Amino acid sequence: RNFKRQFECRSDIERLNAPFLSIYESLIPTEEEKAKQKQLLTLLEKLVTKEWPEAQLYLYGSCANSFGVSKSDIDVCFAIENADLNKSDVLLKLADILQSDNLQNVQALTRARVPIVKLMDPVTGISCDICINNLLAVENTKLLRDYAQIDVRLQQLAFIVKHWAKSRGVNETYQGTLSSYAYVLMCIHFLQHCKPVILPCLQGMERTYAVTVDNVECAYFDQVEKLRDFGCRNRESIAQLVWAFFNYWAYCHDYTNDVISVRTGRIISKRSKDWTRRIRNDRHLICIEDPFETSHDLGRVVDKYSIKVLREEFKRAAEIMQYDSDPCVTLFEPY
Ligand code: CTP
Ligand code: MG
Repeated sequence: RNFKRQFECRSDIERLNAPFLSIYESLIPTEEEKAKQKQLLTLLEKLVTKEWPEAQLYLYGSCANSFGVSKSDIDVCFAIENADLNKSDVLLKLADILQSDNLQNVQALTRARVPIVKLMDPVTGISCDICINNLLAVENTKLLRDYAQIDVRLQQLAFIVKHWAKSRGVNETYQGTLSSYAYVLMCIHFLQHCKPVILPCLQGMERTYAVTVDNVECAYFDQVEKLRDFGCRNRESIAQLVWAFFNYWAYCHDYTNDVISVRTGRIISKRSKDWTRRIRNDRHLICIEDPFETSHDLGRVVDKYSIKVLREEFKRAAEIMQYDSDPCVTLFEPY
């Protein structure tokens, strides 16, 4: 199914490209910042391998998936193969080690949904969360990074959408709105569907990369350097894509029946996933299938109140993109 366009795009849309591109450029992290992140990772590796020589650290999340804006925290996964390891014990010990090396604000959050150690490095000024054996996150980080290499418009769109979501207060999973990860999947899905398409469906192609983690097979085409021209028949630039993205989520998405699925490159039905009714706290009011953990709906945090907030925000953004004289300012006004 194609995305229907409810309205004609405004006639002066082209003139919005330059200001959107300059917002995008202002959000790109500097080389200096990237170097500081590496420096902190190296320090952490040194401390961790002293205690656990067999352990490995991986960067995941926005610092490694190409969707990190300037001044983000870093997410680190501590990977260790040991069947009878107790995560809380490891986290507490890790917190001890980090604390005695002058890292600041060290906290072990052993009861969180994803237990982590938090810290701040006074040398680089960077904050960091360390989780244990969250290897699926490392894999989905690689998938997002590979998609980002195919067409720069994905990174441009995702930066603008994330910046909008943060400015408007709809990037807070604890308040029932969506994670950054969910927004990036929404952008990938969108570019898999626009006409002509801008992104392929990597999981639907020949498998050049395959690993199994936590009994989940993560397999897809990862030779993305061969796909650099994939989207070239579509000449739309950032302002049109931002316009169409918000228009889709405001007026064209079928919230009652549809699930967006980057894995299949299609819209699939809630019925096929048995996501039609509320089960415990999962209401499935907006459905975004995780590309690897397919039973996981990233929209599950959304409740009957926050779905209204989200849909109002999509409509607001669509209206601004359609009519406002200065969307690059109005879109990001604090709520
Ligand atoms: N993640 C996941 N499942 C979720 C949420 C997050 O697997 N339901 C993993 C993904 O690998 C994601 C990472 O955790 O990339 C971090 O997610 P998130 O906090 O949404 O944000 P970032 O991508 O790090 O973006 P930012 O910190 O810039 O907001
Ligand atoms: Mg993060």
